Amino acid sequence: MTITFDAASRTFHLRNEKISYLMRVLENGTLGHLHFGGSVAESGSYGRLSGREYLGFDNRLGDPIPLECPTPGIGDYRVPSLIVEQPNGSTALDPRYGSHRVFGGKPAIPGLPSTYVQSLAEAETLEILLVDTPASLEIRLFFAIYADRPVITRSVRLRNIGTEPLTVHTAMSASLDLPDSDWEMVHLSGAWAREAHVRSHHLVAGSQSIASVRGASGAQHNPFLALKRAHTTEESGEAYGLSLVYSGNFLAEAEVDQFETTRLRIGINPEGFSWELGPGAEFCAPEAVLAYSDAGVGALSDAYHGLYRDRLARGVWRDAPRPIVINNWEATYFDFDEAKLLEIATSAKDLGVEMFVLDDGWFGQRNDDTTSLGDWEVNRSKLPGGIESLARGVEELDMRFGIWIEPEMVSRRSKLFAEHSDWTIGIPTRSRTESRNQYVLDMARPEVVDHLFEVVSGILGSAPISYVKWDMNRSITEPFSPGLKAWQQGEFMHRYVLGVYSLYDRLTKAFPGVLFESCASGGGRFDSGMLAFAPQAWTSDDTDAIERLRIQWGTSMVYPLSSISAHVSAVPNHQVGRVTPLATRAAVAFFGVFGYELDPTTLAARERSEISDQVAFYKKWRDLLQRGKFLRLRSPFEGDRNETAWMTVARDRRSAIAAHYVTLSRPNPGPNRLRLRGLDPDASYRVSLWPAARKPEGGPARPMVLGGDELMTAGIVLESSPESAGQGDFRARLYVLEAV
Ligand code: DGJ
Repeated sequence: MTITFDAASRTFHLRNEKISYLMRVLENGTLGHLHFGGSVAESGSYGRLSGREYLGFDNRLGDPIPLECPTPGIGDYRVPSLIVEQPNGSTALDPRYGSHRVFGGKPAIPGLPSTYVQSLAEAETLEILLVDTPASLEIRLFFAIYADRPVITRSVRLRNIGTEPLTVHTAMSASLDLPDSDWEMVHLSGAWAREAHVRSHHLVAGSQSIASVRGASGAQHNPFLALKRAHTTEESGEAYGLSLVYSGNFLAEAEVDQFETTRLRIGINPEGFSWELGPGAEFCAPEAVLAYSDAGVGALSDAYHGLYRDRLARGVWRDAPRPIVINNWEATYFDFDEAKLLEIATSAKDLGVEMFVLDDGWFGQRNDDTTSLGDWEVNRSKLPGGIESLARGVEELDMRFGIWIEPEMVSRRSKLFAEHSDWTIGIPTRSRTESRNQYVLDMARPEVVDHLFEVVSGILGSAPISYVKWDMNRSITEPFSPGLKAWQQGEFMHRYVLGVYSLYDRLTKAFPGVLFESCASGGGRFDSGMLAFAPQAWTSDDTDAIERLRIQWGTSMVYPLSSISAHVSAVPNHQVGRVTPLATRAAVAFFGVFGYELDPTTLAARERSEISDQVAFYKKWRDLLQRGKFLRLRSPFEGDRNETAWMTVARDRRSAIAAHYVTLSRPNPGPNRLRLRGLDPDASYRVSLWPAARKPEGGPARPMVLGGDELMTAGIVLESSPESAGQGDFRARLYVLEAV
């Protein structure tokens, strides 16, 4: 990994074995972009990469000159990365190169989560200062490159060096110009209970974008966008990714101009956003992570997985095996008492489950969702001995105890609202919109964050609590904070997110042993900003195995297995009414952080024995299933959408687990082979099936021994006989590979 600056051509080159990122200070001092993609050799000058401006185009920078920090008003008519209103009302900016420095490691961003290094040698950072003198604005761009990852992280800081206030209207974290538009845009879109569905379409002239204005990143679109060629597959071809380490309103956009070049940008959504930058003040935009792959979308995902798992997540739980939980939500909803919960925990303990998580309903008068958010005092009629007695009871079973909380919210029917209705987000001249019978607390106010820190710390300190599921069940409406002046109200949504981060930061530091799981009605805030504090997230409220195939496939485009929380629930499934085999439910939930969300006391003996086997299987393969290299093999979004297959491979390639899922059974199927990937071609693998296959005469079938080369070129012959079709819908089979 190196960052070089060729003084003669004023060219910056960030390079490792996988990628190069090249920029040049153009003749007029503007920072131009030359290349982001495969690694190119060091050669001093990259004139051959240049566009027309290097051949003597005049002082102004018209389309389609590739730029690092495009601004309006100076001849570039594409979407800008920066809009800053100056005291005279102008928003034109023409920032010019000032200076730069290169240093080891990478700096943190004040108030915001970001990827990090553990030693200075892991990454290098280039900081480039651009100055717009008439606007009295300093722009500092930070580009970091890791030694061995195909990613560039990028962030932006703005400083007012004048004497009058400036107003920032747009501050994109990254802007990337690509020389052509023959790309498909891939993004993760959906809704509550069907998050992260993979969508793709060929770029068209003009602008195409995904965004959130909800106050959270949202289930509708994930703050991630990729481009791939039409022929790019999971394992071959070019792809770019842009991911934003941010949990609030975002915009990710591709614009194709009249010369068929493409500009990508990602950052805080400019809609409704403004930020007053007083004299001397600095504004920091969140980090964007740009990835490049010439080996398919799979390698792009792998780059994000490694970075987010190992250098975004932090704390003791980053590397620790994540426990198998049982959560009581779908088992009891609000209807429980201590005896019932201990029965569930005891029964789950007998099955090998490691942690009991108490979900919503333990506080105030919370017997349904109409009341008590904000009143985080235990409901003594349900739990007479308090959280402490329940937690101790669970600990006595030699299980850990976890708790649900939704700190950012308040119910209208609550003591907190009666005492502090002014802490609730709302516009004084309008009525507040209720959603799920609740309002949102004003996290932009430090006193609200202080209060929540005290309250949540009190709970966590009161009992042996090892885990917190931090929920957020509504979007923000009527954004407004009385603490902000009229012209600062555009800051509210960002300040809200900063307040959430500050609370997370304080709590995770005060309780370093607690495992945090983020949640927003399922995957409504499943983003890399959250992963910096909570290394795992509740992926979706939809626990149906077949729905989860699509949701987990899509989520895995960016986020590692260690972040994807996945539970086996009862049938008929509570969200879609589908009845799937217990083995299939486990075979899907295994690929992530595994758990249960059902009442084990109601299970038949046969189901209990199956679950014991599942828990034992997961424990045996936990490291592979939480931290292995994840490879997607057959997409539930492609073909006739009837099959899904994926696998996880150990780093040393000595073991792997491949999974194949069939949605609907088809009569008389033809032969079907599944080619595996990522194995050692020279190794031989013992292949055993899960659930174990039986020989026609009874007893388990003998495992086969197959070469890694054969498994990757010819593939596994899947069960596709008329008899296997007769086994019914929603089938799953795991292939466990162990090198011999
Ligand atoms: C939404 C979550 O996603 C569910 O798992 C559950 O915790 C409920 N909220 C509780 O209200």
